[in-house]
Order: sequence, then structure tokens, then C-alpha cells
Amino acid sequence: MFSSLKNQPVDKIMQVMAKFRADPRPNKIDLGVGVYKNALGVTPVMRAIKQAEHKLWEEQETKAYVGLVGDPAYADAMIKLVLGDAVARENIGAAATPGGTGAVRQAFEMIKMATPEARVFVSNPTWPNHISILDYVGLECVQYRYFDAETRSVDFDGMMADLDGLRAGDIVLLHGCCHNPTGANLTLEQFGAVIEVMNAKGAIPMVDIAYQGFGDGLEEDAAATRLVASSVPECLIAASCSKNFGIYRERTGLLMCVSQDAAKTPLTQENLAFLNRQNYSFPPDHGARLVSMILNDDALKAEWMSELEEVRLGMLGLREQLAGELARLTNSDRFNFLREHRGMFSLLGTGPDMVELMREKNGIYMIPDSRMNIAGLNKETVPLLAKAIVEAGL
Ligand code: LMR
Repeated sequence: MFSSLKNQPVDKIMQVMAKFRADPRPNKIDLGVGVYKNALGVTPVMRAIKQAEHKLWEEQETKAYVGLVGDPAYADAMIKLVLGDAVARENIGAAATPGGTGAVRQAFEMIKMATPEARVFVSNPTWPNHISILDYVGLECVQYRYFDAETRSVDFDGMMADLDGLRAGDIVLLHGCCHNPTGANLTLEQFGAVIEVMNAKGAIPMVDIAYQGFGDGLEEDAAATRLVASSVPECLIAASCSKNFGIYRERTGLLMCVSQDAAKTPLTQENLAFLNRQNYSFPPDHGARLVSMILNDDALKAEWMSELEEVRLGMLGLREQLAGELARLTNSDRFNFLREHRGMFSLLGTGPDMVELMREKNGIYMIPDSRMNIAGLNKETVPLLAKAIVEAGL
């Protein structure tokens, strides 16, 4: 049987991780995988998570199963975090999933179950897993223009022209904030225009939000997702706690099905439970429990928010330093886009050759499409990267 298996395409993000690990150079710089690192290059357990874990260890008396869609307290807390009061709770079906990817996967499966003929429009570029999971699940994927390689900002006219091709029932996958991989985000006004076209065409949005709190602030980063959820008849939202709670390996995500018609909620809820049961039965609980403990405790929440803010401001500071350094070295403002981008990533907008050159010559690792993780930098390495970028001829 095993010899009938085919070799699988290489996952570029995993490949960069492996190459980085194998590189013996002590001064190598990892700007690859999307994991937050502090100035010491460490991905710390957040203070509030440590405290919640301590409390959980003291108080938890059983590890028995919770429920097919996870703990309702987790769903309630996350819905409040992501959606505020944009939509009433009774209009939302929700299920805990193994990480944000789990939520994305379950959302695609739900689309496939409900409307197998739907096409899923994704930004070009998007996070590679969006395309590979769509392909695996067997849904047709259509790319819409998103990034202008010249200005390194959103090609909004191109995007709108491509969305004009939507048919009723198609899905539009949008990034809630901190677009992965580009770092270039739609303004709230542009989101409004996208909502208008989706509503006019009868298309359904799906929002992937994995970096709430990494861009302009917790509330600001949720604004677009809230606008979408409150302005369309139906939408799907995949949320991740990996980055903003720093609990990557705990696999903590939530899939939400939002409908303006609350009578649909029992049906979406039942299907979410069914999908969880088919794919992995009960979702992981540890990370979800920590998140709901933090969000439901004023002191823990304040501690979490202040650390998240340190993380966000640290990344903005690195962006500022890098753009400043590049302006100095090139005597131009052509790298100003680094200041405008938000979140963990910026797409430099160069090809794999220059990325490879920087890897070989300078030990700097980024994804071949030139996505770099800003959080992989610190004050000392920013000048090294700036020099390498200029030497590579960007
Ligand atoms: C990333 O974009 O690098 C992360 O979300 C890790 C992953 O699973 O791809």
C-alpha cells in the first residue's frame, strides 16, 4: 500500500524552518516561520498564560472530555474578543478547533458540504495553506489581485475588478488584519466597498483572523471583521489564538458561522459538531481553557493585554528602524512601505533569487516569495538586514 503513495509538494515554510535549523552559522537570522520572537530570539510563554496555567494546575480535577465543540465559555469569550457586540451571540454557531488552521480546514469542509460548486476567491498572494487545503478538500480556488509589487501596497482596483467576476454562492476569503504574507491591509473603507460588491453578487465572506492585536490594537484589528459580520447575511470566521496568546503548540482556534437569521444557528452548530466528530472528535482543550480563563479574569486580561501591546509596539519599532536604516542607505523613501505594513510580516516584493542570495551570503532566512517575519529581528540585526537588502540590489 505505502508504495502507492505519491511524493507530496514541499511546504515552503517548513522547508525554510528545516534549512535554518541545519545552518551552522552562529549569526544566522530567522525571518521565516510566522512565530513571534522577542529581542533575545525567544518565543516566550506570555505572563498571563503562565499564571493561568499555574491556576489551572491547582484547580483542574479532571481531563475528561469537554464537548464536541469545546467549552462554551471559550467560544463565548472568543466571540466577544473578535466580534465585540457587532452580532448577537444567538446568531453565531461556534466550535473550538485545533488552531487557526483547524478552523480554516473545517470552514472549507463546511463549504464543500453545503455548496460543493462554490468557488473560493483568495488573495494573490495568500497564506500557502489556504490554497493547499482548498485543493485537498476539492474546492475550486480563484485568485484575486491583491498586492501591487511596485508600491508594495494593496492593488485595490485590481482586487475590485477581479471580485466583479463573483457569482452568487462564491466565497471570498479575506484576512481580518495583518495580511499574511504581505503585511499590506485594506482600509476599513475598502472593506466597506468589498462588502458592497459581495452583497451585490450574493457572495459569502470568510474571514481568517490570526493576528488580532499585532497591528493597530486589539479593537482596531477586529474592526474589519466586525464590519463584515454585521453587514452580510452570512459569513464564516476562522480565528486563531496561536500568535496573540503565544500558544502555538496548544493548537487553539475557533470557527464561527454567523447568520443574520438566528434560526440558522442550531443548524450551523450541529454541523460544526458533526465536522469535529468526523475529523478528530473532541478538540484540544488546554489552550482554549487558558484563553477563557484570561479573558474572564480582569487582572489576567489586563496582564495579557499589556504584554500583547509590548509585542505590537516592539514590532512597530523594528519596522520604523528598518525603514529608517534603508532610507539612510539608499537615500530614498522607497522602503517606506515597511512603516505602512502591519503585523508580523512584510513582503519585500522580490523574487526567490534575491532571497536565496541573502540566505547564502548573509545567513538571512525568509520565505522564497520574500515574506519576512519582522519579529525575527532585533535592534542589532536590523542594520545587518538593511545592508543585505541593499547589497542584494533591491
Ligand atoms: C506562518 O504563516 O508561518 C505560520 O502561520 C505557520 C504556518 O503554519 O504556516
